[in-house]
Amino acid sequence: MQTSTHNTAAVSSTYANCVEVSRRIRWEIEKDVFRGRNFDYAQKFLPDGLSLVDRFDFLSDTEKRLLSQVQGRTYANIFGLVERFINAKVLEVSRDHWFGDQVALEALVRFSDEEIKHQEMFRRIEQMIGEGMPAGYTFLPDPNDVASAVLSKSTWAVLGLTCHIELFTQAHYRQSIEPDSELSELYRDIFLFHWREESQHARLDELEWRREDAKLSEAGRDQAVTDLIDLVVAVDGILQVQCEADANYFCLVAGRAFDSNERDRIVEGLLKAYRWQYILSGAQEPRFSGILGSLVNERQGERITAAIGTLV
Ligand SMILES: [Fe+2]
Ligand SMILES: [Fe+2]
Repeated sequence: MQTSTHNTAAVSSTYANCVEVSRRIRWEIEKDVFRGRNFDYAQKFLPDGLSLVDRFDFLSDTEKRLLSQVQGRTYANIFGLVERFINAKVLEVSRDHWFGDQVALEALVRFSDEEIKHQEMFRRIEQMIGEGMPAGYTFLPDPNDVASAVLSKSTWAVLGLTCHIELFTQAHYRQSIEPDSELSELYRDIFLFHWREESQHARLDELEWRREDAKLSEAGRDQAVTDLIDLVVAVDGILQVQCEADANYFCLVAGRAFDSNERDRIVEGLLKAYRWQYILSGAQEPRFSGILGSLVNERQGERITAAIGTLV
C-alpha cells in the first residue's frame, strides 16, 4: 500500500510539474524562435552525429553540406508528420482525465496545444527551406494517412512509439545538435526550443503508457507488442521510400553527375542515417529501454529486439 500511495503521489506531482514547466517555458514561433531570421545555407542543418556523414566520404565538403541540408529538411518534415498522430492520441487518452485529476488534464491539453504549434512551425520551416533551396524536393508520406494507419493499432503500441520519439528528440538535441558548432543558427535554435517542450511530453508519455499498460492482460500486452513491432516496420517502410526521394533530389541539385554506384551508396547511406535517426538511436536510449523493459516480459522483449535487429 505504501508503494502504491507513493506512486500515486509521484504521478500527481509529475503532472503538476509538467504544467508548471510548460507555463514557464512557453514560446512563440516568430517572436522567440525565428526572430526574423532565415536559414544559413553556408552551414549544415543536421549534425554529423545524425546525418552519419562519414558514410559519404566520396562526396566533397560542399556536397556533404548539401546532403546535411536535405536530411535536415526531411528531419523537420518527419516531426511534422508524427506529431499529427501523437496529438490525436494525446487528445484521446485525455478523455480518462476529463472528470478526474484536472491537473493531469491540463498537462495533456498543454501537450496537445504545443504539438499543434510545433506542426505549424514545421510547416513554416518547409515553406522557408522550399524558398531557399532549388526546386524538386518531395516529402512523400501524408500525415493524415500515416496517422490513420498508426491509430488503428493498440493505444499501448502508439504510446510506446510516441514515448520513443519524444525521448530520441531530446537525445538528438543534447548529444548531436547542441554540440555541433557548424550548424545554421536558426536550425539549431528550432530544435532547442522544440526540445524544451518535448521534455515534458516524454514524461507524460511515460505516465500515460504505464497507465494504459496497467489495463492490459498478458494476452493483450502480447498483441500490443506485436502492434509496436508492426509500427516500427511501418516507420521503416516510410524511411525506405523517403531515402530514395531524398537521394533523387540530392543527385538532381548537387550540380554534377553521379554514376549508379555512387547513387546506390547515397541511398544506402541515407537509409542507414534515417534508421539511426528514427529507430535505432531511440531504441538504445537508456530511459526508453528502461521503461519498455519494465513493461514487457522477457519473451516479449526478445521479440522486439529481434525485430529491431533486422534493421541494423
Ligand atoms: Fe513536438
Ligand atoms: Fe511532443
